[in-house]
Amino acid sequence: MIEYHGVSRSYGDRLAVDHLDLSIPAGELFAFLGPNGAGKTTTMKMAVGLLQPNQGHVRVCGHDVAKEPREAKSKLSYVPDEPHLYDKLTGREFLQFISDMYGMHGTEHADCEIERFGMGKFIDELTETYSHGMKQRLVFASAFLHKPEVLVVDEPMVGLDPQNIRLVKDILRAQAAAGTTVFMSTHALEIAEEIGDRIGIIVGGRIRFLGTLADLKEKCRQQNSTLEEMFLEMTHEEN
Ligand SMILES: Nc1ncnc2c1ncn2[C@@H]1O[C@H](COP(=O)(O)OP(=O)(O)OP(=O)(O)O)[C@@H](O)[C@H]1O
Ligand SMILES: [Mg+2]
Repeated sequence: MIEYHGVSRSYGDRLAVDHLDLSIPAGELFAFLGPNGAGKTTTMKMAVGLLQPNQGHVRVCGHDVAKEPREAKSKLSYVPDEPHLYDKLTGREFLQFISDMYGMHGTEHADCEIERFGMGKFIDELTETYSHGMKQRLVFASAFLHKPEVLVVDEPMVGLDPQNIRLVKDILRAQAAAGTTVFMSTHALEIAEEIGDRIGIIVGGRIRFLGTLADLKEKCRQQNSTLEEMFLEMTHEEN
């Protein structure tokens, strides 16, 4: 569903992503781990067409993101790490606006997401009054409106309280179980452990580990280290 073939991306002379090959199949919840500055956001932005690779290509649902951007983008949703909202709209107006942009008539799509994300109490207030967790739930809800086949979410749990972390985890798992491909970045090994079907660890723009949790545990067993020790050791050099 998401495929990177020999993808590199630099900012000036700083190489952020270095010859990346990665394939995330349909219905997988892929957890992308790595230290600050490892290249996670850069990698994700290339899947959603916000950055172009300098080399290689990215395909989403079989469409080349650079050559067929409309087709690729129509299949996906992106939740960035620092989402912005329209301050002077209520949450409901925001959802209706996004819904209308997708050409989806009626209010039932928005109503369904308001219910799923437990936003009934505050949905008719201006978004400028929302806490971080409320904003994050609204952005998530908007990302699901057009029933995307692929969801790209950059550090979705940061700044959320335990209840909202649980809510987001459960929804991401349920979406993947229903066939949505979820590409999620996180710094937290325990989140990747708990909900990821597969884990990718990127350091300095290169994939250092790619496999299931069982594969990662086996690697730990061979090296006689704990998961945390292994993770810290892998990601240490760039910190
Ligand atoms: N707009 C930019 N201009 C210049 N350099 C950039 C820009 N965006 C990212 N970089 C650099 O590219 C590298 C990868 O950054 P990126 O944001 O992709 O990392 P990340 O893994 O998402 O980090 P974090 O965990 O902190 O979000 C870093 O060295 C960063 O400084
Ligand atoms: Mg990032």
